[in-house]
Amino acid sequence: MRLDKFLADLQVGSRSQVKEYVKKGLVTVNGQAVKKADIKIDETKDEVRYQGKLLSYQRYRYYMLHKPAGVVTATKDNLDKTVIDLLPKELVKDIFPVGRLDKDTEGLLLLTNDGELSHNLLSPKKHVAKTYYVECDGQLNDAKITQLCQGVDIGDEDITLPAAVEVVRIDSDRYVIKLTITEGRFHQVKRMIQAVDGQVTYLKRLSMGSLILDESLAKGDFRELTDEEISGLKS
Ligand code: URA
Repeated sequence: MRLDKFLADLQVGSRSQVKEYVKKGLVTVNGQAVKKADIKIDETKDEVRYQGKLLSYQRYRYYMLHKPAGVVTATKDNLDKTVIDLLPKELVKDIFPVGRLDKDTEGLLLLTNDGELSHNLLSPKKHVAKTYYVECDGQLNDAKITQLCQGVDIGDEDITLPAAVEVVRIDSDRYVIKLTITEGRFHQVKRMIQAVDGQVTYLKRLSMGSLILDESLAKGDFRELTDEEISGLKS
């Protein structure tokens, strides 16, 4: 890749600024000051330094966001704040959300520029498990739990695939469950609860595949995934 592109991608400066830095001798490649910004480097092997500081090129970036309610899962929106708006400008180039949470849903959202991983996580063939914490109005009983687990008619061609239900609390007219599904249909959790005569009042995603929401992240905060988290998602 061209040295100026490398430097600009790493936010060292704009293309024209980095050309100036190179001319001034502030950039070294494998220990040698270079004078031309259009030379080709191997970003996986060459050691590039700016003012002595080693620059390492990350082709793919992965962020875990604790999505708050009130922001939309999109890269751009004319009306609402988006999940991308929650990241600093310098990090968002080519970054997109993997899948979608409703505006009023909170919790785990993966943001990346890795199209292949995103495709694999969202592919209907892969049945990646997603677990939600779900607060509902309505009554829950064993028959309804069995229905949710076996599959319910939410108005689509097919009933939902088998799901897992963990009961957190049941009161007379409301209940809390953890629901694990392996599909990603539009408003799926809300429609599943409606299919058993309930109404979701609060929804939060806790996990996606092996990735678990880091509860130390405040709503609206994000962090980079660890190497273990990235390899867990890829395996
Ligand atoms: N199911 C829903 O109904 N909403 C979400 O945001 C995610 C899953």
